[in-house]
Amino acid sequence: MNNKIINFIKKKNKSKIISLTAYSKNIASIIDKHCDLILVGDSLGSVLYGFSSTKKVTLDMMIEHSKSVRMGIKKSLMVVDMPHNTYRNPKEALSNAKKIISKTKCDAIKLEGGKKVVQIIKTLIKNKIPVMGHLGLLPQSAKNFKFKGKNLVERNKILKDAKLLEEVGVFSIVLECVESSLAKQITKMINIPTIGIGASVNCDGQVLVTDDLIGLNPIKVRFVKKFTNITKQINTAVIKFKNEVKNKKFPKKINSY
Ligand code: KIV
Repeated sequence: MNNKIINFIKKKNKSKIISLTAYSKNIASIIDKHCDLILVGDSLGSVLYGFSSTKKVTLDMMIEHSKSVRMGIKKSLMVVDMPHNTYRNPKEALSNAKKIISKTKCDAIKLEGGKKVVQIIKTLIKNKIPVMGHLGLLPQSAKNFKFKGKNLVERNKILKDAKLLEEVGVFSIVLECVESSLAKQITKMINIPTIGIGASVNCDGQVLVTDDLIGLNPIKVRFVKKFTNITKQINTAVIKFKNEVKNKKFPKKINSY
């Protein structure tokens, strides 16, 4: 494990871990100074491309966005999601993960699942590729978007998966839409950081989709809080631009050659 990852793990029980998504250089360079981890999430499929799920996201899309994000990151750990159908077996996963790392220079990759993907994760880690896990609601295979941990069977499965992922060497686990007391139990049980999204304050850190947090993506789900309304600010700026153009107040001499 490299020092950046070791230092990231050490944040557990010390300070809350701040994570956000970025799909481009400009956003990455704004959030980098505030974040511990920046994720190029395959959520870009729905957020940017309007897909109904993340299943249509391709490896090339992830790589191109990640190359842009890389340019904006100076200090945060950079993690890239492996999209759907790019890690169906260890050989495929290794070849695609190597491609992501060599083309984007990211620090780690993230993939969804527990027991089902354990052999894949083992292969990646054996080949020195740092892996972040993702449990709870798994958008790449989800049949519904309900929270996870409602009944004992579901809870035990997620608990076992978390232990298993820690044992095979993932450096952190995203818990998506996991019931609060279960997220607490997992966070206490494992020695690597849990990063929650819709999984309560009990996790070691939180992640949100930046476009949701700034109010650029018109999404309404329980776990999203809009910390500002950038849509309103863009509207105000565009109306000002429009009025100045119509009234011949823009461009001024200083804006012209
Ligand atoms: O794709 C993504 O943005 C994610 C986060 C929501 C955790 O996986």
